Amino acid sequence: MFSVTARDPVQALRASRIREVANAGMGRNDVLAFWFGEPDEVTPAVIRDAAKSALDAGDVFYTHNLGIPALRETIAAYTSRLHRPVGAERIAVTSAGVSALMLVSQLLVNPGDRVVVVTPLWPNLVEIPRILGAEVVSVPLQLRTHADAPRWELDLDQLLDALVPGTRALLLNSPNNPTGWVISREQQRAVLAHCRKHGIWLLADDVYERLVYDAATEDAQDLSQASGSSGMAGMSDKVSAGALAVGQSACAPSFLDLAEPEERVVSANSFSKSFLMTGWRLGWLQVPVSLMHDLGKLIEYNTSCAPGFVQQAGCVALAHSEAIVAHTLQRYRAARDYLCAQLSAPEFRNAGVIAPRPQGTMYVFFRVEGEQDSLALCKRLVADAGLGLAPGSAFGPEGEGAIRWCFASSTERLAQGVARLAAFLRQR
Ligand SMILES: Cc1ncc(COP(=O)(O)O)c(C=O)c1O
Repeated sequence: MFSVTARDPVQALRASRIREVANAGMGRNDVLAFWFGEPDEVTPAVIRDAAKSALDAGDVFYTHNLGIPALRETIAAYTSRLHRPVGAERIAVTSAGVSALMLVSQLLVNPGDRVVVVTPLWPNLVEIPRILGAEVVSVPLQLRTHADAPRWELDLDQLLDALVPGTRALLLNSPNNPTGWVISREQQRAVLAHCRKHGIWLLADDVYERLVYDAATEDAQDLSQASGSSGMAGMSDKVSAGALAVGQSACAPSFLDLAEPEERVVSANSFSKSFLMTGWRLGWLQVPVSLMHDLGKLIEYNTSCAPGFVQQAGCVALAHSEAIVAHTLQRYRAARDYLCAQLSAPEFRNAGVIAPRPQGTMYVFFRVEGEQDSLALCKRLVADAGLGLAPGSAFGPEGEGAIRWCFASSTERLAQGVARLAAFLRQR
């Protein structure tokens, strides 16, 4: 008899613990759920209308593997406004961020390769290299307290020490899901220099780059040099210069601000979070042009292409990008400030809640002192309080003891959740 089983690395994959908690709440309509990382609003009408028009016009056929030229050019123009200038020949359209990450991993990661990740981390980023048979090494962020304010921080030396010669790739997600940590420009420079020295690929997951609240604004020098212009005149059309979002940075620091076109740096991005398009499954990759031919083959054998009418809608999303991002940022900043203020109030502090204020993303990743089993705690929260949160252990062992709360929600709904958590903690 032959065994009827999946490959060993696939059998070894961890099943989603967020799903496990969500399943525990299945069939109950009184649960207030904040467990998934998803905007609470539908996609803006102008984007939905664009997809409808494209469908009506019969845009229902296969497209080029790398995406329709109009979208590749629109993405190139968009990312050139945020980062260093790039041409459409380095952009490939993908079926959302998760497919972009899988494709680029298939492109670069061999079985047995050493891949370094900074954790806690969205599980897909850890499991994708494992599916390909790579060895994944974690460098944990540290939860530290400064002037009474807890913060998730990177120990840069620990990361550089883990990036030993022979390491194939660093997979880095900043702003980070689940902690909201954002890498600084200074740390980026050090990481890039180190990866350059040892020939290590840098795979940047930039899907939350527009959801950033407090990160230091862009370094004008980088941008004006990159765009070939000089001084403030060259900055005026750069979104990262902080022109938007009430004087704060509208884009997190990215390796795309620093990297040369033909070096070992790739970036995965998505329409899901910034443009409220999770269900559309549309994303992109920016890679050195020399990888494009092979990437096109991989897209052919994975998905062949993203749907044409969805790509048309993507063009319209980017045409309205700044208005959509400004709207979302304003809502999420208010939601973050509200939730963090609540969870830092004496009632919660006295109950052992430690809630670092995230610099980016749409999550607060907080601890409750004395609670070591986050999965069990989240199941109790569902059963006893009707509150749906994601267990920290879903984001790797380094996330154990913490809970993730997605704050992409109205303040009213968050307030109901806060009241449920307070009641639960009082009865513990
Ligand atoms: C860190 C990170 N990267 C990538 C993605 C992929 O998103 P999508 O596949 O919807 O584009 C997600 C989604 O939650 C994420 O959290």
